[in-house]
Amino acid sequence: MKILAIGDVCGPAGCDILTRRLGAIKRRLSPDFVVVNGENATGRGITPEQADDMFFAGADVVTLGNHAFDNRKILPYLDDGKPIVRPYNLAPAHPGRGYAVVDCAGIRVCVTSLLGRLHMDFNHDSPFAAADRLLESVSADLYVFDFHAEATSEKKAMGYHLDGRAAVCFGTHTHVQTSDARVLPQGTGYLTDLGMTGAQESVIGVKWQQSLAYFRGGPAPRFENSSEQCRLQGALFTIGPDGRCQGVQLVDET
Ligand SMILES: [Fe+2]
Ligand SMILES: [Fe+2]
Repeated sequence: MKILAIGDVCGPAGCDILTRRLGAIKRRLSPDFVVVNGENATGRGITPEQADDMFFAGADVVTLGNHAFDNRKILPYLDDGKPIVRPYNLAPAHPGRGYAVVDCAGIRVCVTSLLGRLHMDFNHDSPFAAADRLLESVSADLYVFDFHAEATSEKKAMGYHLDGRAAVCFGTHTHVQTSDARVLPQGTGYLTDLGMTGAQESVIGVKWQQSLAYFRGGPAPRFENSSEQCRLQGALFTIGPDGRCQGVQLVDET
């Protein structure tokens, strides 16, 4: 089977290219299953309407990240039984679920999100221990991990941690597509970062002029989403009948 994973959808421009282009991309790449990271649909967070749009456009599962709860309107939606997942390694008191098991033509696909800890808020469990817990406690035929982390080192380490146990491990959060797509030695399809679905003429989705002014020492602005030069980025993972990944192909579409 083929699994298409799409990197963080950023702002209205990212939502727009996703809803306009995903249908045609699916017809061309023929994935059996689509995972979309939606944590930045509003910039910071996602609304119920945006999540519905992503499902309507063709997402089977929507994953979130460190901005999962920033838009408070999404909170009741997260407990509504839809296949939208917030990070698994948060305290159980958080709304929503950390994984979803979805039937795909008789194959039970478990999709989960994990938050990294290096250069991020440390107020959550080890993603490595949480991954072990999930694999021990959740029954599925294939496991897909969205590792939402800042550091390439932590992401690569997670790839090896899951190698042979997960079909797919891809990174999100840094919004810059990496060129290290590969199959790890024990058969896990891996990519350090899927990239971003949104304005490429930006600093990870926001207007570059504002980001540059901030880095040059100015006061923190109210960051606005950019809409210049949109692309849809992600990766296509081909999984064999034995559950091992056979190949990973970068996706980068205008
Ligand atoms: Fe993001
Ligand atoms: Fe993030």
